[in-house]
Amino acid sequence: MTTPPVCDYEGSDYQTSFWDKGGREYEDRTEAIALQRLLPKRGRILLELGAGAGRNTPRYLGFDRLVLLDYSRTQLEQAQQRLGNSEKYIYVAADAYRLPFVDGLFDAATMIRVLHHMADAPKALGQVKNVLAANGIFILEFANKLNLKAIFRYLLGKQEWSPFTLEPVEFVKLNFDFHPKAIRQWLGGLGFVIEKTLTLSHFRVGILKRIIPTGVLVFFDSILQWTGTLVQVTPSVFVKAKIVGRDGIPPAGQDGILSYFKCPDCGHSPLVDNKTYLECSNCKKKWGVDQGIYDFREPMR
Ligand SMILES: C[S@@+](CC[C@H](N)C(=O)[O-])C[C@H]1O[C@@H](n2cnc3c(N)ncnc32)[C@H](O)[C@@H]1O
Repeated sequence: MTTPPVCDYEGSDYQTSFWDKGGREYEDRTEAIALQRLLPKRGRILLELGAGAGRNTPRYLGFDRLVLLDYSRTQLEQAQQRLGNSEKYIYVAADAYRLPFVDGLFDAATMIRVLHHMADAPKALGQVKNVLAANGIFILEFANKLNLKAIFRYLLGKQEWSPFTLEPVEFVKLNFDFHPKAIRQWLGGLGFVIEKTLTLSHFRVGILKRIIPTGVLVFFDSILQWTGTLVQVTPSVFVKAKIVGRDGIPPAGQDGILSYFKCPDCGHSPLVDNKTYLECSNCKKKWGVDQGIYDFREPMR
């Protein structure tokens, strides 16, 4: 199966350079508020797509079990160091375009700062839909091409691409901004109903972040987030979407962790547990399990 290219974070110091030392406290705190507003307080099992180093994971602790999925093994190792190896966390190295989970497994999923890297966003969103249970909740963050800075730059002739058209813009290789209407159309086409939209990072301007205390910016951003229902012109947008019309999907994953997985190549489940790998009895592929990380990126040789 051919899938779109992956933006590779293997070996990246993203968590340290972008978040811990990158002056992003304002963005991090506004995201925490948005997640608190959108995410169900409790649940059985949540999938965090593109979990990275687990920056947001502690915000999902109301769920009994958290599955952290990322293509980068080193990001997952950083998440393990942050969160530990409790039974609550399941670490999965896999491609968001070919998820290794049975249909209808999760009662919630989040994808924060990840769609940004998707050359084929509808394909990735379709994968999320498949693994959600009936009435499952999906919290999606996307980078918004219709942001004020892009609008002004375009109107002043300083930017070639139009922020008003629906197609994604790839401003750096494998980094995409999306039009809010395109996101709504894709989600709607897959059977999602958008329940809430919040706009974030109203004050993501260097000089404001330098001269105004972060707490003040966070406070005003948290109020303005609610305007997202009416208009979305900030660089970051969060939506809460519910999947409808999947009532026929039987409950999944009731028989322990092994029953969560399917072979990402042929779709067969259950896989056979051989301790250091899971084996597909249909296509015979073997998927490694090493240091607490299930690896579904490439079959073992
Ligand atoms: C910008 S980081 C965001 C990490 C985390 N969600 C956060 O907000 O701190 C993007 C993450 O998406 C992961 N990623 C990118 N493409 C992916 C794919 N096709 N499948 C799975 N993970 C992917 C990267 O490895 C990286 O950890």
